[in-house]
Amino acid sequence: MFTLKITVLITVIVSLNYELCFCGCAHAEYKIDRQCCPMCAPGNRVLWHCTDDTSTTCVPCPELTYIDEPSGFTKCFTCTMCDENRGLSVNKACTRSSDTVCGPLKGFYCPERNKGSCTFAVKHSECSPGQYIKQAGTGSTDTVCADCEGDTYSNGSFSSCLPHTKCEALGLTETNPGTKSSDSECGNPPALAIIISSVIVTLILITVVSVLTIIYIRKKKHPKHSGKLYSVCSEYNYEIYSCFI
Ligand SMILES: *[C@@H]1O[C@H](CO)[C@@H](O)[C@H](O)[C@H]1NC(C)=O
Repeated sequence: MFTLKITVLITVIVSLNYELCFCGCAHAEYKIDRQCCPMCAPGNRVLWHCTDDTSTTCVPCPELTYIDEPSGFTKCFTCTMCDENRGLSVNKACTRSSDTVCGPLKGFYCPERNKGSCTFAVKHSECSPGQYIKQAGTGSTDTVCADCEGDTYSNGSFSSCLPHTKCEALGLTETNPGTKSSDSECGNPPALAIIISSVIVTLILITVVSVLTIIYIRKKKHPKHSGKLYSVCSEYNYEIYSCFI
């Protein structure tokens, strides 16, 4: 009784397996109208199914179509177009026996692939000011950004954070402290600034004093209320200033 059960079970499993795996036809054959026909090779489609007397008639796929496996298909598939609007470009052109392989455009990465071909691509992220590019984006990964730390800065496009310029070490003074996204700014040292400003002040003083002196001398040369004295002086041919002593 037990042996019979096992035998029945095995028979069922084997016949089921046969149905599933071979589907009634031998390997490299397809079933059509209850008949098994030999498949066409990749790159070819069925023109005429086989008959009792003839084998399958196959013809090559037309241009821009393909079949990438042995089959009983009567139509070839249209080659995939790599859409630039989806960030894609052609990696490998379509052949009769293989579909186009698309890849990401430069500056894009591919988050999703199907049979090795990119289905859509995304632009690499840009790092913000204050961050550096820790890992540049590739065809399959996005850019990795990281924050600047300590006394360093990056405008978002550096591959590492640069240390702030030390103005003092250059003999300059810091006119603007550095930030995470910008360098410090240096100016002239105080000593030089003082020298320059003193020279300017001195020049202004000299100019002012000279102008005042000239005005003063001119006024004395033409005094308003000393007509009498002036005439006396000129009569005696005195020096102008000696008249007033
Ligand atoms: C960052 O600085 C570099 C060189 O100093 C410059 O070429 C680049 O355009 C800057 N990038 C940004 C985002 O400001």
